[in-house]
Amino acid sequence: MNNNSSFNTNCKRCPRLAKHLKRVNQDYPAYHSKPVPSFGVKQPKLLIVGLAPGLHGANATGRPFTGDHAGIILYEMLYKHGFSNKISSVSLNDGLKLAHCRITNAVRCLPPENKPISGEVNKCNRYLEEELENVSGEGIILCLGHIAHKSSIKALSLKQSDYPFKHGKFYKLNTGRVIVDSYHCSRYNTNTKRLTEDMFSKIFQRIKKQLKI
Ligand code: URA
Repeated sequence: MNNNSSFNTNCKRCPRLAKHLKRVNQDYPAYHSKPVPSFGVKQPKLLIVGLAPGLHGANATGRPFTGDHAGIILYEMLYKHGFSNKISSVSLNDGLKLAHCRITNAVRCLPPENKPISGEVNKCNRYLEEELENVSGEGIILCLGHIAHKSSIKALSLKQSDYPFKHGKFYKLNTGRVIVDSYHCSRYNTNTKRLTEDMFSKIFQRIKKQLKI
């Protein structure tokens, strides 16, 4: 990988996203409105990959999944399964600490209408590559939804057709690491019961068993 590619919050590699963030900053001057850094331990046993910051969530607070519905569900689940010291994530200085775990997004900037275009997902993939390099030997990459899954497969230089997205699937890679798929804990998926609390909790139970923690 190119040494100049390290993530920083000044990244403006995607003109459409940079323009969008500038506009959002005018409407909501108190919001973070920059690329959102990952959160958690540096060398995780569990890396959780989401889609992209939400307008009033990660984009506002500067921490993935913080301030919106999906985050309430995710951080509650992490606490329930012993991956954090607090049940909720509120702001950058709320004292929340993750254990063994790190959270990132396939796309680091807020996309218009919550929909990144494929060029943006691809440009941001180098940052996901960096994250994946830090996942420990037998670690797990939990992909929340199709885009997180596809981005992770790409960042690992694997063939997409060998690894179709399937909720509940555990793909053991020959490096020892494991890709796990779950439906995204979005408001839509939880309201429609595509992803129930029980389904999500079962994924975390299996992850803990696999990680032997
Ligand atoms: N917030 C994030 O940071 N990522 C998501 O995928 C959803 C909400």
